[in-house]
Formats: sequence, C-alpha cells, structure tokens
Amino acid sequence: MTDHGTPDGSAPAVRERDYLINVYQPKKYDDGSMSIVSADGCWVTTAGGHRMLDLHGQHMCLGVGHRHPRLVAALHQAVDGLDYAADFVAHEGKTRAAKLLIEQTMTTDWAGGVRFVSSGSEGTEMAMLIARLYTNRPIIVTRDLGFHGWTAAASAATGVASRRNVFTTESGEVRPVPSPHAPYPAAPAPLCGSCPLNQSYPNCKDADGTLACVTATERVFRSVGVEQIAGFITEIWHGAGAFLPPDEYVPQIRELTSRLGILWIDDESIGGPARTGHWWAFQHYGVNPDIVTMAKGLTSAAVPAGACVVSREISDFMDSGWWAHGSTFSGHPLACAAIVANLEIILDENLVERAGELGRFVEPRLQSMVERHPSVSGFTGRGLLWGIELVKDPATGERWVPADRRHNQAVDGPIEFSPGGFVAHECAMRGVLLFNYSPNTVTIAPPLLITEEELEIGLTAIDEALDQLDKQMP
Ligand SMILES: Cc1ncc(COP(=O)(O)O)c(C=O)c1O
Repeated sequence: MTDHGTPDGSAPAVRERDYLINVYQPKKYDDGSMSIVSADGCWVTTAGGHRMLDLHGQHMCLGVGHRHPRLVAALHQAVDGLDYAADFVAHEGKTRAAKLLIEQTMTTDWAGGVRFVSSGSEGTEMAMLIARLYTNRPIIVTRDLGFHGWTAAASAATGVASRRNVFTTESGEVRPVPSPHAPYPAAPAPLCGSCPLNQSYPNCKDADGTLACVTATERVFRSVGVEQIAGFITEIWHGAGAFLPPDEYVPQIRELTSRLGILWIDDESIGGPARTGHWWAFQHYGVNPDIVTMAKGLTSAAVPAGACVVSREISDFMDSGWWAHGSTFSGHPLACAAIVANLEIILDENLVERAGELGRFVEPRLQSMVERHPSVSGFTGRGLLWGIELVKDPATGERWVPADRRHNQAVDGPIEFSPGGFVAHECAMRGVLLFNYSPNTVTIAPPLLITEEELEIGLTAIDEALDQLDKQMP
C-alpha cells in the first residue's frame, strides 16, 4: 500500500512548500513558516511541541477560541444530521442562523435579510452585486488602505497595495467586468496618525464640523459622478490597514452617502461578531449601514462561512425580482450549524460585554507601554482589537519603514527592518503569537474567551519585546 502523507520527520510547513503555490513571499525569503499540530482555547501547539498563546487569533478569526466544546459538539451533530441541501432548499439550520444574525446581532430592526456565502471575499462580491442591482448604477468606490478580499472585484476594491498588487488594477475604483478600468481615485483613508491630506485632527474639521477626509470623499464621489455610484465600501475598524478612524468619521460617512443616494457597504470581516465590545463595529456609532458583510469570526473560522446582511428596503427589493444567482455552498448545513453555535456561545457567555471589559483591562497597559517605550508612538482600538504604532524617532515621528502602510513588497522589495515583524518575532520567542499587518504596527486580536491571566502573559511578552525594540533604536 502506498503511504500518502505519513509524517516523514520534517515539519509540515517545510513539506507544504513542496506542494503549495506561494502566495505570500518568494520561497527564497522564507525563513521557516510555523506548523501547528493542535489547538484549543487560546493556545496552539506547534510541530516542535511548543505551546503558544494565540494573541492574533489566526488573522482575527477566533471569536470563541480554538475548538470550543459546544461548537465542536454542534459540528459533530451536524455531520450526523443533514449533510447537504442545495441553495434553494430550506433547512432548519439556515433559518436559525439567519434569525439569530438578524434579530440578535443587528440590535435595531434595520436589517431585512441575509445571504450566506463561504468567505469574506464572497461577501464583498455579493454586497457589490446587490448594490449595483438595487441602485442600477455601475460603480463601487472604495477607500485607500481598506482590504476587502482576494477575488477579482474584492481585490480591486482593496486599497492596501501590498495586499492587492498583481491580482488587480491600481485603481481605487471597481467597474463591472469587462468595462475598462478608469483611474478614479480612492477616497482618502481616515488615518489621523499619518493623514494623507496633511491635516491634523481635530483641526481638520471645517466650520460645520465635517472632517477633511469626509469632505475629500465627497469630492471623490463628485469627480466620479454621483449618479454613477452604487456603493461606497469601507472597513471601519482595523484590519490590513491597522488603524481606527476618528469617532466622527463613520456617522459623517453615513450622512454623506445617504444624502447622495449612495449605499454604504460596511465590511465587518474583522469588526465582529463581538470583537470590539459591540456585536458589530458600526454599532459604536449609532448608525446602520445599508449592507454589512462578515466572515472569519462568524463561525470562529471552524467552518468557512460568510454572510451579507442587507437593509429592509434592499431585502424587499430583492424579493421583487428573479435573480437566478445560485451558489452551491450558500447556507451549507455545516456552516449554518457553526454560525448558530458560535452566536449562541457569544450570547450565553456574554462575550460582547466581555470584549468591552477586557478592552478596558488592555487599554491602560498599552498606555503604560507608550509612556515607557520610546519605540511606541501610540495605539488604537477597543474591545479585543488593538494596534500598536511603532516609531524610529519619537521626537520627529520618523518611521522605520517610511512608506508605512503603503510599502508594497512586490514592487518596492523586501523591508530591511520591520519593527512590527521584529516585535512579533520577539513575542514568538516568548511563546506568544502576534501579527503585524503593516510594517510599523503590531495587532492584538485574541479569542474573546481569553482570561485576564492569559492577557497578562501576552502583554508581558509584548512589553519585553518592546524592550528589545527600544534597544534597536538609533
Ligand atoms: C476586512 C476583510 N474583508 C474581506 C476579507 C476576505 O475574506 P476571506 O479571506 O474570507 O475571503 C478579509 C480577509 O482577511 C478582510 O480582512
């Protein structure tokens, strides 16, 4: 008998490289990826037998942690139950998942319906498709430094060049295939730490209190042609861009898009459920989007699933026509079982409130790091989603990687020294997993079930790693 896949002594990460297509970095730069053999709660065990605290939650996916017993049991039960039902067939799991999502997590009654998909990228595609159908307009405007996925339209809507590079056009605008790409600008990122408009918050507001980046966004809409724009897509909290907008930004974007008849698509692949201390990040601002997309934490990534929730008006509109838009895996019983179990755990274990409370535990610790480490210029976040900003020269604000979030390794070449990568590496040496989505930041996004003791372990490792970074400073 041929032996397929018996461990041959080398770590899985090494063996994987023989068979998988590289999508991150050329193999010649690969200094040994990590292999995980098992995981539970907030911990993973590596192929080398090390237990590590998962403070980045595998790209911010792990709401209820690795292998939550209730989620595992629900999946076992689902496997023993209905294996599959086609997209157009109703089943109990799909109804329960939809009802929970709309009635429990959207908190006000603005939401009218949901379409299940299998990933965040598909959620983006679905949202764009629905926005175009509803408005009968072709263009989706996106924002600089946003990230919306890897499929064609989703990556065209992505403003982080390093995450978009060869997979799409350079435009910040998405046109229906096969229309030619037009060089419309993307709306500016509300990145106050390094304002693309060279303004400084809060002096950037005009006499009416409107932020300069919102005024500039209106200018982008007008230069594209308002009557051509179906939707404006944003990621309002951290993500690949790793920053938080000022508080006024989201309500002002809501007002602007409503006034101009443009749908606001809120991509919450990272913002929820529960991660920021509300079910979804938009709920911090007392406004509702027209369309909200989600994935990752929707099932705590135990099963691939995403969703696109639309307003009542859009849902009624979708009910009024024949769309013949099928998807083989939409509403798959396993995905729905995972969504139901995941949301019920969040409800029963009060994880929305818990994320808020733990955020209040983390915040003073981060504040103290800013005060003690010259290499830290600030931090942003709430709940269990935080980014730490790293700086080379605190006096001038000079960054280690001057292009910062706009450094595109595929074009600009490898980064000589990434402080975010350095801190993540130092933390890994101390048994803590972290991630840096942009070269001058590190992101913290642990499972929502993390205890204060576990957070303490993680924050202590970060503190020690920052000691080491301080020593690297010129
Ligand atoms: C904000 C955001 N949108 C969309 C996506 C794409 O999701 P997926 O990788 O599930 O297709 C991601 C993935 O990281 C994301 O962070």
